Amino acid sequence: MAKPPLSMRPTGWFQVAWCDEIGVGDVLRMKYFDQEMVAWRAESGRLTVMNAYCEHLGAHLGYGGKVVGEVLQCPFHGWQWNRQGRNVCIPYQDRPNRGRRIATYPVVERNESVYIWHDVEGREPFFDAPDVFASFDDGAAADYYPQQRLYRPGLELHPQYVLENGVDFAHFKYVHNTPIVPVFTRHDFAEPVSFVDFTITFEGADGQRIEDVNSGVQAVNGGLGVAVTKSWGMVDNRTISAITPVNESTSDVRFMVYIGRTAGKDPARAELKARQFGQEVIRQFEQDIDIWAHQRYSDRPALTPDEFQGFTAIRTWAKQFYPNGRGGSTADGHATSRTGGRQ
Ligand code: FES
Ligand SMILES: [Fe+2]
Repeated sequence: MAKPPLSMRPTGWFQVAWCDEIGVGDVLRMKYFDQEMVAWRAESGRLTVMNAYCEHLGAHLGYGGKVVGEVLQCPFHGWQWNRQGRNVCIPYQDRPNRGRRIATYPVVERNESVYIWHDVEGREPFFDAPDVFASFDDGAAADYYPQQRLYRPGLELHPQYVLENGVDFAHFKYVHNTPIVPVFTRHDFAEPVSFVDFTITFEGADGQRIEDVNSGVQAVNGGLGVAVTKSWGMVDNRTISAITPVNESTSDVRFMVYIGRTAGKDPARAELKARQFGQEVIRQFEQDIDIWAHQRYSDRPALTPDEFQGFTAIRTWAKQFYPNGRGGSTADGHATSRTGGRQ
């Protein structure tokens, strides 16, 4: 693949795990943004994500590091680090090393997911990660069957490919076999959290009139890393897509779906149907993955006039999340070189 001409170090909230992968006392190794990291959960339940290497002599805390109450203890010489990454104890010295600090990340647990705030400039979070229920005007986890998940690590794609899908009306018919081309009813790219709504159906005859379609999707994009959707007028579902750069050319892809509970005489059957529908939603997302994982990002794409508006809006919006302010040539309005995504 071609290395994306977009920075793989964008700013924002990015999923690094699911909450239930890290129980109390667990230490989980992970690698994102070309950094070795660990996530650990203290006795109080508090989760910390920090860089993996001990500031003493560089042991990797993910290999034998131990949670002791509210701190993480290094396996090599027992130095203890708190959730701010500060050294709080050297077992063979009367005082800790107050100068050294392991870099930590702002963390939120939401959508059953662990999100970290990544910013190469070290700024505090300047927007919120969207919530698959609270970001919309209704719904709660209790109204839905358990979350169904897809995890595809190490794919050669960039988070922005996935978001651009949201303005790409023409692909629905070809990738997802929808009977009609959806129509956008909202494109709001004024803030770091953006909104896209469209009218769409996955059923009925080809060529049905859009005026007769009574279903749609609302999407909330929290930066480039996390997007949530709510559907209406069809099987009640919510989805979360989360794309996190691992290194200069690959990302981990996570996708989740909740199907609404239905009242009925046969709860077991209803749940089975919900599972099957959830799998179908996941399968549709996988159809997109096959495209994204092999595409070469088109910087200076050949767009129709109808496509131009949406793609320009989203690419201009995306620029704010890049350390160099570059989000491809549509955003710039003029040609950029292929090295435009350098760090
Ligand atoms: S390397 Fe961690 S305590 Fe020595
Ligand atoms: Fe799609």
